[in-house]
Amino acid sequence: MSSRSELVIESLNRNHNRTAFNCGIESLDRYLKHQANQDMKRRVSRVFVVRSRQDETRVLGYYTLSTLSIDLSVLPENLAKKLPKHPIPAALIGRLAVDVSAQGKGIGKVLLSNAIKRTLAISSDIGIYAIVVDAINEQAESFYMQYGFAHLASEGKRLFLSLKSF
Ligand SMILES: CC(C)(COP(=O)(O)OP(=O)(O)OC[C@H]1O[C@@H](n2cnc3c(N)ncnc32)[C@H](O)[C@@H]1OP(=O)(O)O)[C@@H](O)C(=O)NCCC(=O)NCCS
Repeated sequence: MSSRSELVIESLNRNHNRTAFNCGIESLDRYLKHQANQDMKRRVSRVFVVRSRQDETRVLGYYTLSTLSIDLSVLPENLAKKLPKHPIPAALIGRLAVDVSAQGKGIGKVLLSNAIKRTLAISSDIGIYAIVVDAINEQAESFYMQYGFAHLASEGKRLFLSLKSF
């Protein structure tokens, strides 16, 4: 496996071989194969792919980024009481996945850290209170929770991380 300095993260483009991607969760594979391109074109989501510097086509992993509003009522009370009484702007990592051949080598962490850095950079121009993630299952939840993500009340497997912590 390539070292982290040899990884490239870039917007999904036509060089990427989307059909070969397999993260072990069919809905996340299907999204990359059939939906991601359309979402990019319609500007409803941005899709970022990680690949090795040597191979422009093989997708090692991807994540999606878009925006959403969080209702104050789903935030913990100690945070909600300090915020204005209207929906709070956030960035959404809707999906994040690593190909099975590359899992357990730090790529998920690299992708998450890239999504956070990208969001922090955007947040100097547009108000963003937190990053929200939709964890697909309990394993994904524990993956995110180790980085400080916490549950949003009554939102299933939706977790958030306040940007204030950076
Ligand atoms: C979950 C997933 C994104 C993790 O990516 P990865 O590249 O295998 O993870 P990394 O190697 O970067 O691991 C980073 C850290 O997370 C931990 N970790 C990895 N997978 C984990 C899991 N399923 N549950 C809890 N912790 C996990 C690792 O032990 C590592 O911890 P360390 O830094 O203390 O050693 C990846 O396994 C995957 O794509 N799974 C299928 C799709 C999925 O579940 N997506 C989740 C979001 S919807």
